[in-house]
Amino acid sequence: MIVVTGGAGFIGSNFVRDWLALNDESVINFDKLTYAGNLSNLASLEHDPRHIFVRGDICDTDRLSRLLAEYKPRAIVHFAAESHVDRSIHSPGEFIATNVNGTFSLLEAARAYWSGLSGERKADFRFLHISTDEVYGTLGPQDPPFHEMTPYAPNSPYSASKAASDHLVRAYFHTYAMPVLTTNCSNNYGPFHFPEKLIPLIISNARAGKALPVYGDGLQVRDWLYVGDHCSAIRRVLEAGCPGEVYNVGGWNEMTNLDVVYTLCDILDTLDPKASGSYREQIIHVQDRPGHDRRYAIDARKIERELGWKPAETFETGIRKTIQWYLDNQAWVRDVQSGDYLSWVQKNYAERNDTKGTTA
Ligand code: NAD
Ligand code: DAU
Repeated sequence: MIVVTGGAGFIGSNFVRDWLALNDESVINFDKLTYAGNLSNLASLEHDPRHIFVRGDICDTDRLSRLLAEYKPRAIVHFAAESHVDRSIHSPGEFIATNVNGTFSLLEAARAYWSGLSGERKADFRFLHISTDEVYGTLGPQDPPFHEMTPYAPNSPYSASKAASDHLVRAYFHTYAMPVLTTNCSNNYGPFHFPEKLIPLIISNARAGKALPVYGDGLQVRDWLYVGDHCSAIRRVLEAGCPGEVYNVGGWNEMTNLDVVYTLCDILDTLDPKASGSYREQIIHVQDRPGHDRRYAIDARKIERELGWKPAETFETGIRKTIQWYLDNQAWVRDVQSGDYLSWVQKNYAERNDTKGTTA
């Protein structure tokens, strides 16, 4: 069996569902259930004995050690993290605690467990760390995309904490020869994406008749990858990646935020038209994110060349599926938009006035 951390979050829950749809190998899903972790993301696995959910904090090394001793996994896939850049600007401490200290605790528990293995089980063990393209910093308009040797230059507390965790993972390979792998992926989108992030926020606000807040001029560029493609890349790296190696994962799909928002509005205009006018009329420009990275782009040639992985979805196919999922799953959206979500929206948007003085 494998252990997955953070498997109740957006990417983790997609990974667990896909894994069990394709494999019979059980998953121990270890998750703290923060505001971003949601067991309803895993409702389809409720009666599936191959999915074992354990609530816990990756900062708790003893708990992790007991878990590994009990289940004896052949691999750990590490998703658990604080993942939202804007939250890291308001509360950086939680990002250091989980992303840096938590990854360290997990590495320590994994090292003790792996050291006690022998023979094939030891050689075949893998620790796969899921990271982000944001560790490489920001690009100018003409710069080549990030590749695996691009120097780290993180700019937000989130990306700095992920960079620190990547360095720890790397050190466990070089110092202890622990068989680790790291993936650095670009922006994901798809089902079960928490509506604090751009794409699900825009879909949800559009349908609620609310303002669609674009930070600054909206000309920041991101590379977008459908979450199912990220999950297939992770499976491939786990299966065939070379220990100690880093693989960049991306969709070859750079877009400005404004173009993403226009695309969402235009598709919603056809799939769920308003009584009159276009969703584009709800777009407002609000105060920019402090330290906002201007452009991310991923050179994903290494994973294609060495492991034969390529994304299956284009942005056009993936985004239509995604919007349709949100239209079909409004109860899920309503459920996650309560409690912490409401206070977050108030904190993040209350003071971001648009150029005309209204508030997002
Ligand atoms: P998410 O915020 O949706 O989910 C994070 C999960 O981790 C939640 O289920 C949460 O409960 C859990 N968690 C948080 N702190 C924990 C702790 N201390 N102990 C145990 N569990 C804890 O995040 P996501 O968007 O699914 O991202 C998953 C991973 O992928 C992260 O490591 C993130 O840095 C990375 N990543 C995300 C993207 C993206 O576009 N979302 C892109 C590249 C890489
Ligand atoms: O690049 C990978 C990263 O992508 C992951 O490591 C992070 O975990 C993930 O959250 C994501 O980070 P971003 O900051 O790029 O994603 P977000 O959806 O928050 O924002 C995408 C872009 O849209 C970014 O340039 C900021 C902008 N934005 C975001 C929000 C929430 C807006 O213009 N308005 C908004 O309201």
